[in-house]
Amino acid sequence: MRKIIIAVDGYSSCGKSTIAKALAAHTGYTYVDTGAMYRAYALAGMRGEAVQSLRFNEQNHICLNGEDVEGLIRTLEVGNRASQISTRKEVRDFLVAEQREMGKEKGIVMDGRDIGTVVFPQAEFKLFLTATPEVRAFRRYRELRQKGDTSMTMEQVMADVNDRDYRDTHRAESPLRQAEDAFLLDNSYMSLDEQYELLFKMVDIVRGDDC
Ligand code: DC
Repeated sequence: MRKIIIAVDGYSSCGKSTIAKALAAHTGYTYVDTGAMYRAYALAGMRGEAVQSLRFNEQNHICLNGEDVEGLIRTLEVGNRASQISTRKEVRDFLVAEQREMGKEKGIVMDGRDIGTVVFPQAEFKLFLTATPEVRAFRRYRELRQKGDTSMTMEQVMADVNDRDYRDTHRAESPLRQAEDAFLLDNSYMSLDEQYELLFKMVDIVRGDDC
């Protein structure tokens, strides 16, 4: 099978990283979570630290200037800050260049907001994931509760999802949008297994080049 680039874009909390990781495991490709790069960049700003290097280590954890910051970037605060700094052209230019470098050899699954439109417009398989805002807010709320975080009500999580959607889709620099040649999947009412079954088949067809 030929090596391809798999681009996974979509709204926040619609299961992008779960699907992208499963696609990486299925194909044996490297998984790159570009949201982690924006989050680590945001964390640097919150700490007043300059970003000299952003790399993934062997455990696929994001490292900021050599420090593994995976455990610090998954909060709502860092997520919101990441959404804000991701509107800046110089931030995007820097991170997009790093991402293109990682995909040079193909054999990569990258998830984010602009992978199929800006980072790899030539990607052989593009997936655009979505789910209704209510379903995504519920998933995020359930995840917070499972982590023991009771700081937000369901209404607050819903408001946060709406704010982030607005910012992601309305910024001037690389707004979130579906590439014309992306496969649109609304997974509001699909199980993970149903999604895997469908997507693994599609990716195998593209890799086999017999579509
Ligand atoms: O996917 P995430 O929630 O970890 O991403 C955090 C923020 O980073 C998100 O609000 C938008 C931004 N982002 C982006 O602008 N472009 C990407 N390719 C990935 C993330």
